[in-house]
Amino acid sequence: MSGARLAVLVSGQGRNLQAILDAVAARKLPVTVAGVVSNRADAGALERARAAGVPAAVVPHADYADRAAFDAALLAALEALRPDFVAMAGFMRVLGDGVIRRLRGRMVNIHPSLLPKHRGLHTHRRVLETGDSEHGASVHYVTEELDGGPVAIQGRFSVRPQDNERTLAERVMQEVELKIYPQALAWMARGELQWTEQGLRFRGKPLAAPLTLDDLEPPFR
Ligand code: GRF
Repeated sequence: MSGARLAVLVSGQGRNLQAILDAVAARKLPVTVAGVVSNRADAGALERARAAGVPAAVVPHADYADRAAFDAALLAALEALRPDFVAMAGFMRVLGDGVIRRLRGRMVNIHPSLLPKHRGLHTHRRVLETGDSEHGASVHYVTEELDGGPVAIQGRFSVRPQDNERTLAERVMQEVELKIYPQALAWMARGELQWTEQGLRFRGKPLAAPLTLDDLEPPFR
């Protein structure tokens, strides 16, 4: 492990976290995972962190009187890790503007839809209800607008007639998320993907449209 310090925010199973940990262990992703912070004590992701020897902390949202108190505790737990970057990986709480401003340009999220389509929850169901021909996932920088920050990379696939919510969730994870998240973080860690107030830059040029699965480097395909 080397390079930039990455903190990961989780709430659930942690399959995206595992892909990040595996990419670090395989020396594809030049970061040190400084720690994992969960808002749920029962998140499977915590076990994955511990198994990899990564510090794991819990900031249980139910223990705090209001969102401001939770945000303050979460920010303190994050800042104790001295992260250069923060990755939300299945983190299921909406953060307040104060936290987001503090981490502006350094925090990304993975969202299971082709943003700007289907922000928020139940994306797979909404894809089926809408009759979309394509689905996928997006890595975006986190801004005050929920699931509305600039998209760095987006992977897509064709919806099949036999797909249901379960198969779509699985395909989003396997065909897209587990590939694009480690790749996006590697570009960030290497300084190839950069946030500016004027928009994202990739390899020194403005990023006019999100990167795609075709842009994945061989180790991430
Ligand atoms: C992913 O599909 C992510 O896009 C969504 O929640 C899921 C997280 O799963 N927000 P995991 O915790 O990485 O297994």
